[in-house]
Amino acid sequence: MYLDSKIAQLLHDEHQRTVDLMNRLEEAVTGRQTKTAPANDDAATTALLADMNAELQATTGHHFNFEEDNIFPALTAIGDVAIPYILRQEHDLLRNLSEYLLPVVEKARANGFTAESWAEFCELALELVERQISHIQKEEMGLLPTLSGLFEDDRDGELVMLYAEAS
Ligand SMILES: [Fe+2]
Ligand SMILES: [Fe+2]
Repeated sequence: MYLDSKIAQLLHDEHQRTVDLMNRLEEAVTGRQTKTAPANDDAATTALLADMNAELQATTGHHFNFEEDNIFPALTAIGDVAIPYILRQEHDLLRNLSEYLLPVVEKARANGFTAESWAEFCELALELVERQISHIQKEEMGLLPTLSGLFEDDRDGELVMLYAEAS
């Protein structure tokens, strides 16, 4: 996907990274082999939990805060109120969900899964996958194209640096 705004392109790349992680997560918690919890030394699960931990602890929050502080106000300024409003609500839901999921992930990283915590993880993970994908699709269709021509070149570059600095 080519976007003529650098910050739109960066947000798109970040979305793609998140979608890849959500796909891995979905694959791990669906299908026949997921009836029982994975073994404690399962390498793919260990890697997935580490990536989920980073995502839930910091990456998602950083991305959401950046959009709320720097992107949505620019849309509101040109009279687009509804889209930022909806996207903010979705961020809050996703933040809530992340808060529930993070301790489950942390516990699993420390002690492995029990049958119970695996079931809880699967349920929350699927909810997260569904909501993240739908949120990202909305931003890809309704937000990023709007950013084309919205920022002066200087500001566009400044935003890219700001995103990198705070992460
Ligand atoms: Fe967002
Ligand atoms: Fe986003």
